[in-house]
Amino acid sequence: MDYLSVYTTSFYKHVESHVLRQEPAGLYEPANYILALGGKRIRPIFALLGCHLYTDDFTKAMKAAMSVEVFHNFTLVHDDIMDNASIRRGQPTVHEKFGASQAILTGDVMLIHAYEMLLSYSPISLSHRLLSIFNKMSVELCMGQQMDMDFEKSDNVSIGDYIKMIELKTAVLLGASLQMGALIGGAGEEDAAHLYLFALNFGIAFQLQDDVLDTFGTKSNVGKRIGGDIIQNKKTYLYLKALELADEKQKNNLLQMYDSSNTLSEENKIEAVTDIFLRTGVKEYASQVMEAYRDLAISHVYSCNISQDKKDILIRFVNDLLYRES
Ligand code: IPE
Ligand code: IPE
Ligand code: MG
Ligand code: MG
Ligand code: MG
Repeated sequence: MDYLSVYTTSFYKHVESHVLRQEPAGLYEPANYILALGGKRIRPIFALLGCHLYTDDFTKAMKAAMSVEVFHNFTLVHDDIMDNASIRRGQPTVHEKFGASQAILTGDVMLIHAYEMLLSYSPISLSHRLLSIFNKMSVELCMGQQMDMDFEKSDNVSIGDYIKMIELKTAVLLGASLQMGALIGGAGEEDAAHLYLFALNFGIAFQLQDDVLDTFGTKSNVGKRIGGDIIQNKKTYLYLKALELADEKQKNNLLQMYDSSNTLSEENKIEAVTDIFLRTGVKEYASQVMEAYRDLAISHVYSCNISQDKKDILIRFVNDLLYRES
């Protein structure tokens, strides 16, 4: 992804020279720890790229880029508590390393800093617009996380419910990142809305891929525990489609695996459920759905008033990400 190195290099420099704060160390060390672990930096790249579509000086969006990355990292700190996850980006999660109380409070302060970074944009009407996009997005993300948790305990989740849930928990932040970057760069509202929908639909495909990698990826590539979603009884596309395609025996087996009274060891449960996913061929179905959302995303790029070269960069970016293994 060389064509993006200009954004990543510049963003890395910014992160290095703008650590959140140092004191009190108990509060900020965990924040700087998770931020320093890196990750793919998709959301800041979207913010900078969105800005660069409309102006040469993409660094105008640097504060927004930092804001969405700090916000994203805050969601990961809290998500790992909710999902009982002990590894993230190949290292201990914040609550594992610093304790749950610390992870909650450090997450809270990260959220507040993310807001603060959007306040400095001028004119004030731009800052107001960015904050309103950010507010809408962050409430939606919480709604998505709530659905995700509620679904763990529900036997009545449809594939449509799942798509809505991943749109809210994941895709809206990608949408808002690109939309805010574009508005900072000078885009009109119409283009910004198409770019939001581009990143939103891509985000649905991206979360589907995250769910596939959670079962079928490797720990070293993904940096998380493989099978975590199965252990948590997550109602992913893989699970819901497998129930639909399974024969009677496989279906009863799968339902039993996800039943709270199941006493199988974690490793045996992961193995048995993965086996049903493989036998029902759900991974291929997931790829088809991902491609449909990717195509829907791309259709919005064509509606933007930008050069073909710039459209190609957006399309290349999403294709590279969707064929990733980490
Ligand atoms: C993880 O996001 C959470 C999801 C929305 C799937 P990323 O896969 O973008 O995580 P990092 O930032 O690259 O680690
Ligand atoms: C990510 O969902 C959504 C948010 C963090 C808001 P996941 O729970 O699937 O993310 P990972 O797999 O832990 O990164
Ligand atoms: Mg989660
Ligand atoms: Mg998680
Ligand atoms: Mg996941």
